[in-house]
Amino acid sequence: MSARVVSLTGATGFIGSVLRQQLAACGVELRALGRDKSGTAADGTQWIRGTLEDEQALVKLTHGAHVVIHCAGRVRGRDARDFDSVNVQGSKRLMDAARLSGSCERFLLMSSLAARHPTLSWYAASKSEGERQVTAAAGAVAVSIFRPTAVYGPGDRELRPLFDWLLRGWLVTLGPGHSLLSFLHVYDLVEAVMQWLDAPAMHAQTFELCDGRPQGYSWASLAGIASDVRHGPVRQATVPAALLKGLARANLALSHFTRRAPMLTPGKVNELMHPDWTCSNARISAALGWEPRILLRQALQDRLF
Ligand SMILES: NC(=O)c1ccc[n+]([C@@H]2O[C@H](COP(=O)([O-])OP(=O)(O)OC[C@H]3O[C@@H](n4cnc5c(N)ncnc54)[C@H](OP(=O)(O)O)[C@@H]3O)[C@@H](O)[C@H]2O)c1
Repeated sequence: MSARVVSLTGATGFIGSVLRQQLAACGVELRALGRDKSGTAADGTQWIRGTLEDEQALVKLTHGAHVVIHCAGRVRGRDARDFDSVNVQGSKRLMDAARLSGSCERFLLMSSLAARHPTLSWYAASKSEGERQVTAAAGAVAVSIFRPTAVYGPGDRELRPLFDWLLRGWLVTLGPGHSLLSFLHVYDLVEAVMQWLDAPAMHAQTFELCDGRPQGYSWASLAGIASDVRHGPVRQATVPAALLKGLARANLALSHFTRRAPMLTPGKVNELMHPDWTCSNARISAALGWEPRILLRQALQDRLF
């Protein structure tokens, strides 16, 4: 492992916590940003208390760091500002701190495949604009951008219900019947980050990542895989688009009273309705030699979620 001091954001989240464990285990000096965390953890992680809004915390986080891995992000919100404040302004603030540290050589931004389609949702727009602003502010820091598709695995709460229901014999399809989806297991994503750390610095590289299944997954293929795994039928129920959109509008309106950040919003419905979420690992495989190892069929068989 060539990196000496690595700073990580999002280390309390789904992807970041798996990544933190792996980084801590590989012997780098690891600093992690956490809202309510401080001190040194049993695995050696040095927690820096703070958020992406707190410039002093970001200075402490990045001081003397050779690599910054930015895995914090906002995935739910009530309006565009909720997403922009973290995914755009917060990311830019972190890059500024990394560049001004004078020690940071490389920066990895955990973006999303959604950034490919910025008009779909506030989330997608913020991930796209975050990429743009981080790259523009990088100066001599080498930036790489990962755009994973939908990520699942232990600790995930968004996709888990879909897989639980599949294994019970039910598939609730959201979006058009002909949609193509793709998935990525969190262990494969973390392995890609570890290989990126070991590779020579790359400038302004954007990589899409999925589990590599050719043509991705149709809803019918999901039902077929689950049916094989559970040795029984999978019944399909479709939520009509109009109903889904109505629910999303109501959910968003309700969230302004409950003050809770909603997941189902009109923008999320636009993402669900998008017909093609497939992508290619060709660039990242060529650059890092990374190949995903876990297909959804195996994850369902081995309950790796
Ligand atoms: N999960 C997926 O399917 C998926 C797919 C593609 C891309 N991504 C991207 O991967 C990243 C991580 O996603 P995830 O699924 O692990 O999300 P998550 O479980 O919601 O975790 C988000 C992390 O970001 C931190 N965070 C949020 N706002 C922050 C702020 N203002 N200051 C500091 N930290 C903040 C959270 O800290 P707290 O715990 O303190 O709130 C948490 O550690 C995100 O950028 C997301 O866009 C995720």
